[in-house]
Amino acid sequence: MVRIAGPVLGIESSCDETAAAVLDPDGRILAEAVLSQEAEHAPFGGVVPEIAARAHLAHLPGLVGRVMERAGLAYSSLGGVAATTGPGLIGGLIVGASFGKGVALAHGLPFVAVNHLEAHALTARLPGLVEGEAPFPYLLLLVSGGHCQCVRVDAVGAYRRLGGTVDDAVGEAFDKVAKLLGLGWPGGPALERLASAGDPARFAFPRPMKGRPGCDFSFSGLKTAVAQEVARHGAGALPAALAADLAASFQQAVVEVMADRARHALAMAPQARLLVVAGGVAANGAIRATLAGAAAAHGARLVAPPARLCTDNAVMVAWAGIERLRLGLSDGLDAAPRPRWPLEDMAGVT
Ligand code: KG4
Ligand code: ZN
Repeated sequence: MVRIAGPVLGIESSCDETAAAVLDPDGRILAEAVLSQEAEHAPFGGVVPEIAARAHLAHLPGLVGRVMERAGLAYSSLGGVAATTGPGLIGGLIVGASFGKGVALAHGLPFVAVNHLEAHALTARLPGLVEGEAPFPYLLLLVSGGHCQCVRVDAVGAYRRLGGTVDDAVGEAFDKVAKLLGLGWPGGPALERLASAGDPARFAFPRPMKGRPGCDFSFSGLKTAVAQEVARHGAGALPAALAADLAASFQQAVVEVMADRARHALAMAPQARLLVVAGGVAANGAIRATLAGAAAAHGARLVAPPARLCTDNAVMVAWAGIERLRLGLSDGLDAAPRPRWPLEDMAGVT
């Protein structure tokens, strides 16, 4: 294990969160901040890449400065800089990677080009989340507006994708159905609230992929089924009780699909003792509860990091940097941002 000379600065800018964090070499969080661009994108009903890139450019330098100040550190006392260089929206990636490289170059620090998915995957190993540091291999279910995949985490840099969505991400399905029901964006939290007042058995929506071998997901058919039911109602606002029943029945279909897919994943990785869930959808209480049940039935345990570490953040980026730096891994300043960067293309560590 290589000794890291000082705290590590992490930078995240791959989607619509601008984030910075500083962790000491053991992974203790010294300072962290996240600026969500939700308000900037909400009028458009989704993330607008050009707006995101400009917002990162406007906010990142100040945010990093504030985080360094809160940690009481000068740049020269850092031991490394880690920035997300993919996958994600290219404009934001260029902003974050360039800023991180600039700090590294100016202060002679090692730079780590972090894969955003690896950062989500390694979050479970942050000190304090799982007693004794999450042991490899474990399963990661990454469920957000942009990601929907299941990965076996064998080691830093060694990942096996067990399955993923063939169409929409699960958070995207929540957002689209929420829009059909007249809720704002992002729709997941509002839809969950509405579902709690509805009848989950009123509409027998499809459970796409349920029972199929493997661990792939599909949500577009389910979304279409909800759209057809909404269309049957005709023009005008949906009555509140109908909207609640639609929300509850949709969420119930998602819950059953997630439980089924998790069971398949656990059967595909019998050595895994932990099922880690990450991404914004991990905030959903019904999904968490069902995943906990599926894990327990396999003698495994569900680990759901606190919401601020499940959604996009820079703590996970700094931590991925630390995991790599202590294995003696860093990247050149010519590491190019990569909009597409599957986990299985990561450089092996062994
Ligand atoms: O991880 P995240 O903040 O950003 C990315 O998409 O990368 O995830 C946001 C997604 C949105 O699609 C949002 O609707 C969904 O997570 N979400 C939820 C809930 N909270 C957030 N979906 C279902 N139930 C929730 N409680
Ligand atoms: Zn993410």
